[in-house]
Amino acid sequence: MKILIIGMGYVGTTTGAVFAHQGHKVTGLDIDQMKIALLNKGKLYFHEPGLQEMLSSQIKKNNLSFTCDPETAVKDHDIIFITVGTPSLENGKADLSYIRQAAEMIGRYKNKEKLVVVKSTVPIGTTDEMEKWIYEYSNNEASVHTAMNPEFLREGSALNDALHPSRIVLGSESSEALVKLKELYKNSTAPILTTSTKAAEIIKYASNGFLATKISFINEIARLCDTVGVSIKDVAEGMGLDERIGAPFLQAGLGYGGSCFPKDVKELLSTADSLGNPLSILREVEKINRTQPSYFVNKVKRTHPLLKDKKVTLFGLSFKPHTDDIRESVSFAVINQLVAEGAKVYVHDPAVTLSTDWIRKGVTQCWDPYVAVKEADLLLICTDWPQYADLNWVKVKERMNGSYLFDGRNMLDKEKIKQLGFYYEGIGNA
Ligand code: UGA
Repeated sequence: MKILIIGMGYVGTTTGAVFAHQGHKVTGLDIDQMKIALLNKGKLYFHEPGLQEMLSSQIKKNNLSFTCDPETAVKDHDIIFITVGTPSLENGKADLSYIRQAAEMIGRYKNKEKLVVVKSTVPIGTTDEMEKWIYEYSNNEASVHTAMNPEFLREGSALNDALHPSRIVLGSESSEALVKLKELYKNSTAPILTTSTKAAEIIKYASNGFLATKISFINEIARLCDTVGVSIKDVAEGMGLDERIGAPFLQAGLGYGGSCFPKDVKELLSTADSLGNPLSILREVEKINRTQPSYFVNKVKRTHPLLKDKKVTLFGLSFKPHTDDIRESVSFAVINQLVAEGAKVYVHDPAVTLSTDWIRKGVTQCWDPYVAVKEADLLLICTDWPQYADLNWVKVKERMNGSYLFDGRNMLDKEKIKQLGFYYEGIGNA
């Protein structure tokens, strides 16, 4: 099939590369000329394991190309996916301006019947609204079928998630749309669920909301474990063995960040409020997550009430390992508090380059973890990059001034680290 994808963020680019890999002819459209120029050269502008190779090979095979020209792109394609961003506004609601822009492009240039599929995470009712916007901008009678096909891929494992999805949700009131989409996904081994458009929209928010709830739940139990001196790792393992609960997303730590959970939880709360159905569980989920960095810094301050002029090294800036994405990364909430306390902050991350704003605030970036810990009084781990577990911890200890290690992701083996002479604290007595 010939597919147009509007919005070349990590969802759009990954989806495009995977559709091309599956034998479709894909065009990616974006208004950002820099992004398009890079992608056309086969260069990925963000870090996503395996995607670079697939991108280059599909471009070489002529299955994948990129453009900034909406007119030709819309006219040439009958199946259009929308994967633009829906970032949070100040009030927590999703900013739908990019969806509106995409609707305008489609409306303006549609020359015949089109199938428009929303893959972006959008609030309840947005897909129907988008259909109205397309007609508003349209100057001819050609009809549009719309569907909502939420995406469940994770940064850092996006390619694998897109190749092997847990489920494919197709929400639409149009039987023509569903027939075409089932044809598109006919070779997938994942279960296909067809629903109403609004159900598909809610499935995406409720899934992210539920996963965020698991994280805040285990973090709240971790606080209890700290109080009673029990390891949260044991508790999570014991809970996770019950298949009704499941082990994933029970990793206690500094809480969730990224471009999805924080924004989606806030948007769902805000929509539910405006519909007169406040969601009390999710309200607490958000609060626990918001306060988790302070909970961590307070642990640090119990051993070091005065952080002024102490050298604090922080490992990990990305919101999770295997990505250079720092959106809503809790590391920066921790850094902000350390800077406010007057600490001298040194950071290391394998993929992230610190912006000049942070350097101006006095934060120093080191590219070698052993250099970063030189003469440090304290070491804090904020992102669980696996390479930190493989460091030579004897060497780290020798280079540090102090021996205080606070593991905000519970990634190290407490007993082994303590044997090396470290003072070690995780979250939840881990
Ligand atoms: C999340 C969902 O997992 C995807 O299914 C969804 O498609 C995506 O959002 C989206 O809406 O686009 P992502 O934001 O890439 O994916 O990251 P996750 O792997 O879910 O991690 C989110 C945050 O939760 C990270 O900061 C991670 O460190 C934290 N986390 C995760 C925990 O603190 N504990 C856990 O047990 C798991």
